[in-house]
Amino acid sequence: MKGIVLAGGTGTRLHPLTNAVSKHVLPVYNKPMIYYPLSVLMLGGVTEILVISTPSHINQFRALLGDGSQLGISIEYAEQPRANGIAEAFLIGADHIGDDSVALILGDNIFHGPGLWGLLHDQMREIDGCVLFGYAVKDPERYGVGETDGLGRLISLEEKPVDPKSNLAITGLYLYDNDVVEIARGIRPSARGELEITDVNRAYLEQGRARLVDLGRGFAWLDAGTHDSLLQAGQYVQVLEQRQGVRIACLEEIAFRMGFIGSAECYELGRQLRNSEYGSYLMSIAGSDR
Ligand code: DAU
Repeated sequence: MKGIVLAGGTGTRLHPLTNAVSKHVLPVYNKPMIYYPLSVLMLGGVTEILVISTPSHINQFRALLGDGSQLGISIEYAEQPRANGIAEAFLIGADHIGDDSVALILGDNIFHGPGLWGLLHDQMREIDGCVLFGYAVKDPERYGVGETDGLGRLISLEEKPVDPKSNLAITGLYLYDNDVVEIARGIRPSARGELEITDVNRAYLEQGRARLVDLGRGFAWLDAGTHDSLLQAGQYVQVLEQRQGVRIACLEEIAFRMGFIGSAECYELGRQLRNSEYGSYLMSIAGSDR
């Protein structure tokens, strides 16, 4: 399975924070925002990842993440000149996807919860159609919204409905079989001028090939697209990390634990950052395994 992190857009809701830098490199407590969605793909075992961003921001990601080899993965980059919609990721990323299935994650989405690794592995194994992840929220009108029948099967999907049929938001992690490229080529811009991800998902739904997985109450799904949600996401990470003494979305640790790199490489990555607590943490987890 290939991976795409979509980290473009103008970030206007976060001005002036985003006047000069991409929203997705802003700190969520002690790491750049993009670490969080990237960590989800890596936890799912995805090692070939395309990062899509704007022409003016793409080099910020290159500087931050390089070619991914230090993490034992491959990271490539592509530009989205205008925010033409989330579904444009499949047109821009068509060559990267090739004949494979694909996981798309939005660059401002943060997932954290028990069993994320197992959940991803179960869902990513064999994809026929698409898999969407739902999460109950109190303001569903801000999101794509899914409606289910009594058995939990998806029956409708709407993008930012004025009058939502349920409180189940469709989160920004989407798994697709290879048909997604053709489906995305077939959709037209919405009234707001975007190629809507919800239209792609609705095409699968009409074919009876869209599955919804409810993340459930024990899970945290945060988006960091406004000043308040950005601060809250940072506080969430701070509280858990300080309480538990472990790191959320530490890419080097995930690379190590997933077997993408060995303990010596992990230790060396920590040594390069040894003046920071982040670096000390890496050296300690790598050291405990040496
Ligand atoms: O966060 C989940 C929600 O994301 C879904 O429930 C919605 O169905 C989906 O449309 C989307 O809604 P948003 O209003 O949050 O989308 P937004 O325009 O804020 O973009 C989300 C992320 O994707 C953000 O990090 C910027 C990036 N993006 C967005 C667009 C439209 C791009 O890189 N390019 C784009 O063209």
